[in-house]
Amino acid sequence: MSVGSLLILPGDGIGPEVMAEVRRIIDWYGEKRDLSFDVSEDLVGGAAYDKHGTPLADETMEKAQEVDAVLLGAVGGPKYDDLDFSVKPERGLLRLRKEMDLFANLRPAQCFDALADFSSLKKDVIAGLDIMIVRELTSGIYFGEPRGIFEEGNERVGVNTQRYTESEIDRVARSAFELAMKRGKKLCSMEKANVMESGILWREVVTEVAKDYPEVELSHMYADAGGMQLARWPKQFDVIVTDNLFGDLLSDVAAMLTGSLGMLPSASLGTPMANERPKALYEPVHGSAPDIAGQGKANPIACILSFAMALRYSFDLGDEADRLEAAIETVLAEGKRTADLLGEEGVTPVTTTEMGDAILAALDASL
Ligand code: IPM
Ligand code: MG
Repeated sequence: MSVGSLLILPGDGIGPEVMAEVRRIIDWYGEKRDLSFDVSEDLVGGAAYDKHGTPLADETMEKAQEVDAVLLGAVGGPKYDDLDFSVKPERGLLRLRKEMDLFANLRPAQCFDALADFSSLKKDVIAGLDIMIVRELTSGIYFGEPRGIFEEGNERVGVNTQRYTESEIDRVARSAFELAMKRGKKLCSMEKANVMESGILWREVVTEVAKDYPEVELSHMYADAGGMQLARWPKQFDVIVTDNLFGDLLSDVAAMLTGSLGMLPSASLGTPMANERPKALYEPVHGSAPDIAGQGKANPIACILSFAMALRYSFDLGDEADRLEAAIETVLAEGKRTADLLGEEGVTPVTTTEMGDAILAALDASL
């Protein structure tokens, strides 16, 4: 049975290696579960720049608009540091987000039982942690105008603009409330209404949207205090909704609480999930890790979990997503560790491919 179409963009650094493992998982679903995906592959980031002189070719952008889901590895690397800002690898990713209008970025921070010792926080603070950050992804200071570096008198001034319309806040808030309804029915909204007008409006709109979700317990926090609370007692949170820049920072903090950046997936969705299939892009939270690229050391789990999110949110295959996540839990419980997860004594790391092998074996065992 064909489930739908998938565009794979491995990107740079460890992207291609971790994506190779995802492809094996996709093949497994075709062979063993009769769920086949119409997969195409293309370039993004530095890899696209090398071939086309741009981090995202127009053709690739068009393909991304047509498929049911895009799966991206990672972009960037030191080789591209000196490129002009407009063609940096990151611009390829930002163009995808903006033109696909992927305004809701879901970043789960979940602590796997077998890895609770990896956190820099005490085990009881972190064990069982399961929070979801919903980051606004297509507006705010990342895209606001005016922006640029301008001459002013006898010096230059760097300008970026934080800007949010009511409808932009409304739609991301709704996505977060919908998610909270499916989870623990708790939502914390973070901004800086104490110093920013955009924060005042954010708080007002979120409070207004809350009226449509009376079952969800809504709280507000200044984003700096939110960062502090995340480090102090993260389990107080269920879903967090915040703007693009605060979400960038807070999701890195939340990710590292779990001790393993190589484990965390993300989904960027275009329309509220209660409605029809949203445009969607799935990617690991980690970057391209150029220092270990090409050495078989990378952890493919974040990218594989991103595919699990695609199964859940784009293809309505929640049971199969559960199966894949359970297979990963099994493999971790067996003690399999890639190099990023070392720390326990006497454990030899497995390679990227060996981790893939182990997950495929656990999937076989699940049948
Ligand atoms: C992220 C990254 C990106 C961002 C970069 C690579 C453009 O940090 O996805 O969190 O700042 O959004
Ligand atoms: Mg980031």
